[in-house]
Amino acid sequence: MKLLVTGISGQVGWELQRALLPLGEVVACDRDGLDLTNPAQIEAVLRAVQPDVVVNPAAYTAVDRAESEPELAMAINAIAPGVLAQTCRSLGALLVHYSTDYVFDGTGDRPYREDDDPQPLNVYGRSKLAGEQAVQAMANDYLILRTSWVYGRRGQKFLPQDVGVSPGTSPPENCGRSSGAPPGAGRSPKPPPRSWPKTPAIAQGCTT
Ligand SMILES: NC(=O)c1ccc[n+]([C@@H]2O[C@H](COP(=O)([O-])OP(=O)(O)OC[C@H]3O[C@@H](n4cnc5c(N)ncnc54)[C@H](OP(=O)(O)O)[C@@H]3O)[C@@H](O)[C@H]2O)c1
Repeated sequence: MKLLVTGISGQVGWELQRALLPLGEVVACDRDGLDLTNPAQIEAVLRAVQPDVVVNPAAYTAVDRAESEPELAMAINAIAPGVLAQTCRSLGALLVHYSTDYVFDGTGDRPYREDDDPQPLNVYGRSKLAGEQAVQAMANDYLILRTSWVYGRRGQKFLPQDVGVSPGTSPPENCGRSSGAPPGAGRSPKPPPRSWPKTPAIAQGCTT
């Protein structure tokens, strides 16, 4: 089985490129190898790789900045997943796409269910919801994983920003305002049991 993973410089992508290795050949792409603002490149890379599974954790994740860059957020989070979905459909590949709890407004008093009505409150949430809808409309085989509060050893997300508070400093602003069940980006800190071949493949920025 051949799996293509996007966004390998990110928290989740970084862990996935290792975690998926037991399943088969992993083609791991960073932004240079597969730029989600470039639909033609998305299609060309997928057609060259011919993956059985495409895993897409790559996203525009700067929640606050998205308010001033809505077009870029939509290009990466909404249009690109649609192109991935359409291309996966024509290749007969499964698309595994990452989404977010930001598709909801956070006012519920119980854990959300898949079929709860989404009600995004900001540009990031709306762009991720549009990405989900594009995947649903265009893919044949797909999984949409809504995750939240991801923490990992890589990146500047939940833990480094919100919990990494030094003694004597104020608690994070979101303490007491929200609650969640943070999932780790990777379960094992160990490298894979075999060394990674670093042969450039397919496109600069993608390696197997
Ligand atoms: N972190 C959370 O708490 C959280 C919560 C809910 C949902 N999620 C979702 O989970 C998924 C993974 O999140 P994460 O924490 O791993 O995010 P992350 O650490 O911010 O990583 C995002 C990845 O997307 C890549 N990317 C951004 N723009 C791109 C482009 N134009 N073309 C190709 N790649 C691009 C980034 O590459 P560069 O390094 O080159 O920018 C990076 O590798 C995302 O879909 C996110 O929406 C995350």
